Amino acid sequence: MPQLFDPLQLGPIKLANRIVMAPMTRSRNDDAGCPTDIMATYYAQRASAGLIISEATYVSAMAKGYSRIPGLHSPEQVAAWKKVVDAVHARGGRIFAQLFHTGRVAVPQLLPDGAQPVAPSAIAINGKNYTDFGPIDYVVPRALETHEIPGVAAEFGAAAKNALAAGFDGVELHAASGYLVHQFLDASINQRTDAYGGSVANRSRFLLEALDSMIAAAGADRVGIKFSPRIKFNDVVEPDAEEVYPYLAGELDKRGIAYLHVAQQGAYEAHKALRPLFKGAYFAGAMFDQTSGQAMLDKGGADAIVYGKLYISNPDLPRRFRDGLPLAEGDSKTHYAKGPGGYIDYPEAG
Ligand SMILES: Cc1cc2nc3c(=O)[nH]c(=O)nc-3n(C[C@H](O)[C@H](O)[C@H](O)COP(=O)(O)O)c2cc1C
Repeated sequence: MPQLFDPLQLGPIKLANRIVMAPMTRSRNDDAGCPTDIMATYYAQRASAGLIISEATYVSAMAKGYSRIPGLHSPEQVAAWKKVVDAVHARGGRIFAQLFHTGRVAVPQLLPDGAQPVAPSAIAINGKNYTDFGPIDYVVPRALETHEIPGVAAEFGAAAKNALAAGFDGVELHAASGYLVHQFLDASINQRTDAYGGSVANRSRFLLEALDSMIAAAGADRVGIKFSPRIKFNDVVEPDAEEVYPYLAGELDKRGIAYLHVAQQGAYEAHKALRPLFKGAYFAGAMFDQTSGQAMLDKGGADAIVYGKLYISNPDLPRRFRDGLPLAEGDSKTHYAKGPGGYIDYPEAG
């Protein structure tokens, strides 16, 4: 069975090892959604990962849902991302862009002309969005009109094209964490009665349209997808996750995409159910350490392991694992803070 330190062929790309850096929002972009110079440093510091998956990046102005997150819809954003990607490549790393639309997680203060956020149905999230303008209560979103939905799906393809123009090695569809794609999947959030609601196939339609637009732009072998079934976040419920995810795994398999990335953070044994249904690379994430990650590879449960929080404070994680070096503790207070503190000042071991 493969070791964490063994290479993995991912479509046309060879990953140096099977240690993947999880997509993580770190809120160091400017207000126009352009990555900043410290981000090139941050990602380059982590280039020894087999693959870096970028922080979630919005596909259009209406898709932005937090302060200081990045976009990939304007020429300025593409140019700024190119500096980040070039810095990672200069150190021999590989990086995919994670693409998302936040849907009802957005608040009008973050959207063009104070627009009402959009979602499958007019149901608000409970709680607040902690913006740079202060905490703002989530609002009731506007249910997308049926005729608008293909256009929103196509934004993912346009952003994928921009990602390749910026030099990214590929793109990941963010279908997790209760953002727009996940909102369509969840029967408790999606109460539509048209072709995008109701049955499992109908609720999956938006996801597959977005994915197909990304495949058309980048090729299936440069496209991955992330799920986090039943995650306790953004009011996700997913009463029928047991039906939704196997159906989707089959659809992904038909399309031959590069990888399926699953963060098992909710009450659904996703890895066991989904791994056998998908022939491409399977990435398992959430709560792994070196021992449990290697054990997952040993039993054939995954092809690569995705590490999140450990990567915040251990930029040289593969070397620390390989050489048995101590792991540094991160500080969650600086996860989404401004500036370099708690971001680019975690040193390499030794
Ligand atoms: C600060 C922070 C930001 C995150 N941002 C994202 C994100 O942008 N996209 C995403 O898919 N998951 C995001 N996640 C979830 C991680 O990708 C990962 O699934 C989760 O942290 C569990 O893995 P871990 O136990 O190894 O940290 C974030 C997690 C953290 C801690």
